[in-house]
Amino acid sequence: MDNQFKFLLQEWREQIDRRLFQVLDGHHPAILYDPIQYVLEGGGKRIRPILLALSCKAVDGVLEKCWDAAVAVELLHDFTLVHDDIMDRDDTRRGRATVHKKWNSDIALLAGDGLVALAFQSLLRTQSSKIHEIATVFTEGIIELCEGQAFDLEFETNGDVNLKDYLDMIGRKTARLLNVSAKLGGLIGNGNEAEVQALGNFGYNLGCGFQIQDDLLDITSDEATMGKTYGSDVKRKKQTYLLVHALSEADSSIKEQLRFLLTKQEINRTQINEVKVLFEKAGSIDAAKFAINKYILSAKSNLDELHSTQGKELLLSFLKYISNRNA
Ligand code: IPE
Ligand code: IPE
Ligand code: MG
Ligand code: MG
Ligand code: MG
Repeated sequence: MDNQFKFLLQEWREQIDRRLFQVLDGHHPAILYDPIQYVLEGGGKRIRPILLALSCKAVDGVLEKCWDAAVAVELLHDFTLVHDDIMDRDDTRRGRATVHKKWNSDIALLAGDGLVALAFQSLLRTQSSKIHEIATVFTEGIIELCEGQAFDLEFETNGDVNLKDYLDMIGRKTARLLNVSAKLGGLIGNGNEAEVQALGNFGYNLGCGFQIQDDLLDITSDEATMGKTYGSDVKRKKQTYLLVHALSEADSSIKEQLRFLLTKQEINRTQINEVKVLFEKAGSIDAAKFAINKYILSAKSNLDELHSTQGKELLLSFLKYISNRNA
């Protein structure tokens, strides 16, 4: 990773974390704020606030103005994780117990609700003449995110999901928030319409690649590296890129074996490994890598619309950093 980018990443993460914890200053009751604090302390890559700040920089905006919105997109993301872990029945997040495991589902639901409200509170502190547009982009993003999570849930029990359905679902549940983050950075930085659009497209394409990579890591990485439950998607019978690909492209014997494994009530570790082998045989692992690369290249070409700034170079380094991630 290029040194200037590495340095900035570190500095901005510290800046974002400092501001994130300020959000909790003096708040009570503990039953609401302790789990929120726990989520924030769990770390995470902070890629959405960093993308927002980089996008502001890419249009030569005043960085100081973007931090409240940067904190807002991270708080919103953290809300989605807490509720997503309840929906996906996951025990581990960021290398620690999920909120509903450490406490219970009531507390996790409430912590998620609180995070959304705190996200709006932070967003609305943004000093910009475009605050109405900023709030609209943010709100519409949340609606789409919920729609994406709804499709994700519905697809668990729908064996007939095609690639188009899948791409629409990940576009909503994941890519949209990266699209929103990049657009907000552009808007706060006073970029023109074409620049904001280009940044939004960059975020969206990056987000699609990011979710396919997340699907891939679910079965190719390990718990210690990811900080998440290994094979969670297989256990929940999620329509991931790998499953959708295999069920449409593999030969009939592989499809049959996959369908049989997915009829099981409980899928154990051995069966997860069997699914992984079937994905390999079907060429689905390679197909996922190919698709990730395609989205990364599209994101890169979206940046052609921007004139050369230091921020644009940093977005390219960010793209490289994201595509090389293993967690
Ligand atoms: C996880 O997002 C949820 C997805 C959209 C795949 P991240 O991988 O950005 O999670 P953290 O914030 O780094 O933990
Ligand atoms: C992430 O989907 C989408 C969200 C809105 C959180 P996943 O369910 O794949 O995310 P992880 O793998 O649990 O982080
Ligand atoms: Mg999940
Ligand atoms: Mg999920
Ligand atoms: Mg996942």
